[in-house]
This record gives sequence, structure tokens and C-alpha cells, in this order.
Amino acid sequence: AIIHVVLTGGVGSRLWPLSRKSYPKQYLSLFKEGSLFEMTIKRNQSLCGQVIVVGNRDNHNLSREVMENNAIEYIDIVEATPRNTAAAIAFAAFAAQPDDILIVTPSDHVIVGDQPYADAIKAGIEKANKGYIVTFGIQPSRPETGYGYIEYKDDKVLSFREKPNQDTAEDFIERGNFLWNSGMFCFRADTFLSELQTFEPKVYATALAAWQHRQHDELDLQLSKEIPSISIDYAVMERSKKIRVVATSFQWSDLGSFESMYDYLKLTGHPVDENGNMVIGTDIYTAFVGLKDSILVHTKDAILVLQKEKSQDVKKIYNTLERHQ
Ligand code: GDD
Ligand code: MG
Repeated sequence: AIIHVVLTGGVGSRLWPLSRKSYPKQYLSLFKEGSLFEMTIKRNQSLCGQVIVVGNRDNHNLSREVMENNAIEYIDIVEATPRNTAAAIAFAAFAAQPDDILIVTPSDHVIVGDQPYADAIKAGIEKANKGYIVTFGIQPSRPETGYGYIEYKDDKVLSFREKPNQDTAEDFIERGNFLWNSGMFCFRADTFLSELQTFEPKVYATALAAWQHRQHDELDLQLSKEIPSISIDYAVMERSKKIRVVATSFQWSDLGSFESMYDYLKLTGHPVDENGNMVIGTDIYTAFVGLKDSILVHTKDAILVLQKEKSQDVKKIYNTLERHQ
């Protein structure tokens, strides 16, 4: 079967205070089409025969609401504690049959272009059937340090580098033969698990133990705490020799940080003053004096003011918060 695996365990800490622990960004109604989570589900509905949602105990009721409203059956995997994407994907692979094809997607991206999306997924499935781990590449537009970079030639991946520093990212953009990793992947369940076992045997073994000791849909908490927290990008993509890339042509935005949200909102006509300042979350008249390229984010119990280029640092604030998370 072809299974859509939706990762929805992240809290979106770089979008605090819009995104909250109990109400992560993928469930916010940012657009008239519904939440990013709902748009993700619908985009893949005609391409996949089954759905697995991997989330956590704080947000799985939000996923369930969307799935029930759309009358979509799915397998609900509830993490007892977040252990990052290598483990989250392993759980879905354990739930699947070895020869099932998994289309793994985040739940918080904006994608425009249904046909190019469907074409990319079909090309990915073809390669996955041959035993490859497929990533979907995006033409980069700036030296963003929050993404993974794929050095490529045709569909071959020469190297994969997760979240490079600024100088390295600038070098990659200059060299030209790099794509951004979209964070979407496609592979057979058994291909992924054997690569994970090769490169991160501890993640594999501890995730398997937590899976085997699940109760109902929820994984075992004590065993989950033993799982090393590492993303699929560092665990597998940087190391495996079985990676192939599908260069995509749809419009893509990871609303992962306020910088990418700013770019997206600006494109769609959201107001920006003559110095590049933007207000998000309120219609209250707001003036900026002596500031440029700044963003003010307003919510009912917290306000954030930041320089756009410091967007990656919002995560640090979030991690120091005891209240208002
Ligand atoms: N279930 C579950 N459990 N989901 C998780 C967990 C977890 O512990 N951690 C993260 N996720 C989900 C997030 O909700 C998101 O949908 C997806 O997995 C990716 O996690 P992020 O935390 O958003 O990753 P990132 O943005 O730093 O980097 C990834 O995405 C970039 C593109 O957006 C990488 O794959 C980069 O290489 C890529 O460029
Ligand atoms: Mg992200």
C-alpha cells in the first residue's frame, strides 16, 4: 500500500507566541482553506491509500478532530514524549508492512500547485520501489541556515548537509548545484528501517522497544525516554548511500520561522511599512520608529518583537520560558 505518514509532533517553537505547546502552528487557522495540517491531509488524499498520523499526547485530539470532520480513517500513533523525526518515522514504519511505500510529510508547509506536487510524488514512488530513500528538493532562493541542503547531479545525491552555518550556506548557493531539502521523504518501510538500524542502531532498538510496549495507540513513556532525540536528516540522510532526489517545481514555503512567514505574507499582500516592518496578529494601529525589517507579533497574552534576520533565535526564547509556552 501507499501510506501517507504525517509528522505532527513539533511545537513550532520558532513561531512562538503564535504557536503554542497546546496549540502548535499546524492547527492554527492561518488560511481560509483551513489549517496547514488539514491542507496537508487533503493534498495527499488522492495519492495515498492510507494515512498514519504521528503526533503526541498534547495534540492528537486536534488531529483527530480534523480527521473526523473529513471522515478520513487513519492510524493514530501517539508519542508519550517527543523524540524527534528519526523515531517518529520509525514508529510509522513499524506500523506498516515491509513493502509498503511511505510518503512522509511534515504537517506545516504551504504548497501551491497540485499537479506538480502529484507528479513529484509519483516520481518519488517509482524510485522508492527500487529501494531508494527519496527526498524532494526545492530550488533555493536564499542562504537559509534552517534547512538541509542537497548537493545533486540529476537524481543522484552527492552529499546532504543538514542546517549548515551561514558561510557554508552562502557557499552552497554560490556553487549552484544544491537544492533545499523539503523535509518530505518517500521510501519502502523496510528500506528506511534497515538504514536506521545501520546508522543509528540505538534509535532503532529503543524505538522498537517503545513501540512493542505501546498501550492502545500510545507508546511507552519510560522506554520512549531512552530513545536518542535525532532527526532523520542527521540520522539517515547525511549518511545513507541510497538517497535519490526528486527536484520539484511546485511553490513551497516552510512557515517554520517568522522570516519565512514574513516572506510568504508579503507575497500574498500583507502590509509592510516603508522600512520593511510588519505586524502579525492584530489590526491595532502600530508604528515603528527607527526600526527596519522588524516584526511585531501580537497575541492575547504575549507580544514578540524581533529583527527579521534573527528569526531562528526565537526558539532560544521559547526554551527559556516557564510560563506562556
Ligand atoms: N511526531 C513527531 N514527533 N513529529 C515531529 C517531532 C517528533 O518528535 N519532531 C518534529 N516533528 C515534525 C514537525 O512537526 C514537522 O512537521 C516535521 O516533523 C519536521 O520537524 P521540524 O522541527 O519542523 O524540522 P526542521 O524544520 O528543523 O527541519 C526539517 O525540515 C526542513 C524543511 O522544512 C529538515 O528535514 C530540513 O532538512 C528541512 O530543510
Ligand atoms: Mg520545520
